[in-house]
Amino acid sequence: MVFELPPLPFEKNALEPYISAETIEYHYGKHHQTYVTTLNKLTEGKPEEKKTLAEIIMSAEGPLFNNAAQVWNHSFYWKGLKKDGGQPTGTVMEAISRAFGSYEKFVEEFGNAGLTQFGSGWAWLVLEGGALKVIKTPNADLPMKHGQTALLTMDVWEHAYYIDYRNARAKYIETFTQHLINWDFVAKNMAGAK
Ligand code: FE2
Repeated sequence: MVFELPPLPFEKNALEPYISAETIEYHYGKHHQTYVTTLNKLTEGKPEEKKTLAEIIMSAEGPLFNNAAQVWNHSFYWKGLKKDGGQPTGTVMEAISRAFGSYEKFVEEFGNAGLTQFGSGWAWLVLEGGALKVIKTPNADLPMKHGQTALLTMDVWEHAYYIDYRNARAKYIETFTQHLINWDFVAKNMAGAK
């Protein structure tokens, strides 16, 4: 199949001042687009052409896996972003408080996962065997490869924050957890995973 760049679920300037339109132009318009373009080149005329994105991710290794997974990771990342998304409510807040001790403890653990991911990668909130967990993955690696269901992700590749925060990954992470989490998206993913 021909893979396409999914539409961005918000305007390019919708996350300002936390993430600039310029960052979105590069991150979505260049990086995400390049993963899609490369994936199409790698699958053209091959058996993988007939597979879904998830099927490729689960079966491929090397460049094919990396590009397919990065297409999935970024499409998922955009949906998890919302300016001033606030804190979770209802059953999501209850589940997070139960799993991590408090919302603040979750923020600390999630932020720490992003901060301690050496080099490029991702921090995730996942469900594994019905339990909420925070994990981190290097490069393009992602929860579905480990039997986990992704609920939220934070891109900690430098291209996610370098224009706005330069080398200050900690500042990007703090801003992400305080201002940018789309808890409606997390709630939808939790409901869908049950
Ligand atoms: Fe990225």
